Amino acid sequence: MASVLSSSPAPAFGKEDRGGECRTPEEMLAFYRREFGPAPLLVVTNREPVVWEGAGTLSFPPGGVSQTIHRLLGRVGGEWIALRDSGGPDLLRIPPPGEAPEGPGYRLKRLSLPDKVREAHYAGFSNGVLWPLFHDDPDRVVESGDSFEAYVQVNRRLAGRVVESLATLAPGAIWIHDYQLALVAREIRRMAGDHLPPLAFFWHIPWVEISFAADRPWLSELVDGLLFHDRIGFQTERYRDSFLDTVRLLYGNRASWDGRHLSVMTDNGLRTLSLGVFPVSIDPAYFDRLSRDPAGVRAAREILREAGLLGPCEEIRPYLISVERMDYSKGFLERVEILEALFTRYPSRIGTLSLLQVAPPSRQSVGAYRRYAEKVQAAVERLNATFGREDWIPVRTIARSLPQSVLAPLYRLSEGCLITATADGMNLVAKEFLASLKGGDGVLFLSRHTGAAQTMEGLTLIDPFDPLLSARLIHQGLSLDREIRRRRNDRALALIERDNVCRWMAENLRSLGSLRVPAPLRR
Ligand code: UDP
Ligand code: G6P
Repeated sequence: MASVLSSSPAPAFGKEDRGGECRTPEEMLAFYRREFGPAPLLVVTNREPVVWEGAGTLSFPPGGVSQTIHRLLGRVGGEWIALRDSGGPDLLRIPPPGEAPEGPGYRLKRLSLPDKVREAHYAGFSNGVLWPLFHDDPDRVVESGDSFEAYVQVNRRLAGRVVESLATLAPGAIWIHDYQLALVAREIRRMAGDHLPPLAFFWHIPWVEISFAADRPWLSELVDGLLFHDRIGFQTERYRDSFLDTVRLLYGNRASWDGRHLSVMTDNGLRTLSLGVFPVSIDPAYFDRLSRDPAGVRAAREILREAGLLGPCEEIRPYLISVERMDYSKGFLERVEILEALFTRYPSRIGTLSLLQVAPPSRQSVGAYRRYAEKVQAAVERLNATFGREDWIPVRTIARSLPQSVLAPLYRLSEGCLITATADGMNLVAKEFLASLKGGDGVLFLSRHTGAAQTMEGLTLIDPFDPLLSARLIHQGLSLDREIRRRRNDRALALIERDNVCRWMAENLRSLGSLRVPAPLRR
């Protein structure tokens, strides 16, 4: 392993640096240019941000990470390296996002891998081990002999692509994302040494409580790999502190933390990096626009018609909405229990309130996901059979992905949004709902086990593990005076407008410009 002796400490990011000057996409772009000049940005993720539908047509899959960064990178310009998920050429030119057509867009470099390796990395280690463990669900972990090896191999292959790109591209920073790619930075440094652009990493999911993971043989390698970054961002202070607990457990007094910098004397030298808490967010103005767009509203009404939520005179039947991938961490079964408690305790809600759940299938190659989806379907059928009437069905499921242009008006037309995640790094839907509602009185019922609940204020927090309490909070929340509801929403939205995605990006990258290398590695 290349020796890494970091002499200049990675720039840190402190609370006082969190200026509010970066609220609009234009300000974000100006920030980026101040920090990195004309240098492009290089982003690395596991999943690519687009799906090739054939004949040059692209669509955009659901997923908080990809949707968010895609729209930012299209404005800044640069390159995105990811694993190939669909057909089409290895290199795609992605145009700027519709709302910023003057942006430069970016190049998408797509890495193809043998199916076996890919699945062992994705279904095996990333989503069969890391995801359940880091979402407090160790019973769902399935460790198989070679999945960690595949994880290392895929991280290495992506790192190879990055190093190839660095021969011709001098990015301001390399920004790597999420639990599938914890070892890319280590592999980049092994291949290319230390004369590199700053390496930033964002860990989008919770960081595991150390007691769940301490005995895992791969843990020290994973954490050691993360220490090769110049900066790591976490969604909440709790996750960052859990990461520090893990570092302390592994390195004892060889690790020191001054509130900004983490220094660790590893077996391969001293490594110093900054750790930040940067809750991921959204572009609220974008959702506000979408929610009012006439074409989107028409499409949303068609979904309501499909779900039986339009009455004989085209009136909308009151509904709560839930939107998430079919993932056990989103608490679908707990949600059914909450509804059962709601209809049992508060029979006035029978026949007068439905749940519309948008639940696209997710990670179907992972057994735990397939089994979970079947259980959810059975639970929903039972609930519908128990409480349903000829003219009213409690839960309607749309088992496919809907574009945000349809989701935003669906949020706006609803009575409220029900989020029951049992563990969730952030939950962007919560923020998207409030932004789509601007000026509206729908109620957000947000699980307290989400990063969003830990980082936002003044919301109705439910607990998916306590169905009776949650049902009561829903009943009371929907009975509240509409003016009070509107005021609460306005206050929550003001915070999202302040801490929006532009600021998130700036916080992640701020002050890394001083570590920038001036030219490509080779010409
Ligand atoms: N999403 C979407 N269409 C769908 C379902 C979800 O576009 O049918 C988007 C949603 O708008 C949000 C993201 O997928 O931006 C989900 O992010 P979140 O943080 O809530 O959950 P994740 O899937 O990242 O765990
Ligand atoms: C979460 C993860 C992302 C992931 C997304 C969709 O947001 O943090 O890294 O891309 O879910 O999951 P998928 O497995 O379909 O990429």
